[in-house]
Amino acid sequence: MGRAKALASFLRSPLCAGALLIVFAASFALRHNVVLSAASENPEPPVRVPSNVAWTPETIAFASSGDAFRGLLIARRCNHCHGSEGFSSEAAVPNLAGEDLLYLWKQLEDFRSGKRESHVMQPIAGALSPRDMTDVAKYFSMLPTASDPQDTRSFPQPMQDASFASTAVRLIVFGDGQRGIPPCQSCHGPVGYVRGASTLAYQNGGYLRQQLEDFATGDRTNDINLRRRTIARELTAEDRTALSQFYGAALAPGVNPRR
Ligand code: HEC
Ligand code: HEC
Repeated sequence: MGRAKALASFLRSPLCAGALLIVFAASFALRHNVVLSAASENPEPPVRVPSNVAWTPETIAFASSGDAFRGLLIARRCNHCHGSEGFSSEAAVPNLAGEDLLYLWKQLEDFRSGKRESHVMQPIAGALSPRDMTDVAKYFSMLPTASDPQDTRSFPQPMQDASFASTAVRLIVFGDGQRGIPPCQSCHGPVGYVRGASTLAYQNGGYLRQQLEDFATGDRTNDINLRRRTIARELTAEDRTALSQFYGAALAPGVNPRR
């Protein structure tokens, strides 16, 4: 009897109200926690990093530190596709001669890390050491772009339709303000250079056409800051054909002042 009385008076006491409050608060916190942990089990999809390369002073210094003579020996592994003069015999395979040094190095690094996909180039770049990459990039960047009658380059390829020229010149020189397309020559030269942009002026048309296509569809996604993908998506199919044919016909001025 004494115990029942004590229980009844406890239930009426402020102590009991306090205890109930604690139990309630604890269960609320627990439920809240459950909600929080459920949220962290379904995080936002990770943001895809386009490239592991960031142009810090250290990266630029390392990428520029290659030994061209050692690069020449490594290039024997590349020549049957990219040509012994750095100019390929097939318009679908890129020329490397005279290409921007940082651009070349970044592409090798992106192939190696898988940020740029290519079933041909990924295993080749994967077999190169970091030093090999700087050396071979230095070598190709130093090759002359002047034509040699002995080599088998496919560059330049004549333009199929002369009417493409006006479309290409307009985009290269002025861009298109309405579509938010800056002039190609303000990043790719010769008017301005963005770090790690290619020198398009000696590149094969067939290869360029494919790259513009791949950036537009998202098959190539290794450009830092989405620059290229955004521009390529704004270009019409006719723009892409006109630009690649114009560059592929060696009609764009392109002496890289940094070489
Ligand atoms: C079996 C043929 C083949 C060999 C060998 C080869 N490449 Fe390539 N390379 C290609 C093809 C094809 C592409 C274009 C890939 C694509 O479509 O994205 C390419 C692309 C590249 C690019 C990107 C060019 C650009 O304008 O973006 C670089 C840089 C490159 N190769 C360097 C090398 C180096 C250095 C070697 C030798 C160590 C080498 N390649 C060996 C076929 C080859
Ligand atoms: C804001 C600067 C910028 C502008 C403007 C620009 N590009 Fe680029 N472009 C780049 C950069 C940077 C890269 C290198 C992307 C990477 O790291 O792979 C690139 C890469 C490319 C490539 C791939 C080259 C290769 O060898 O594979 C093509 C093709 C290209 N641009 C065409 C164009 C054309 C055509 C225009 C004009 C309509 C243009 N770009 C305008 C910055 C620019």
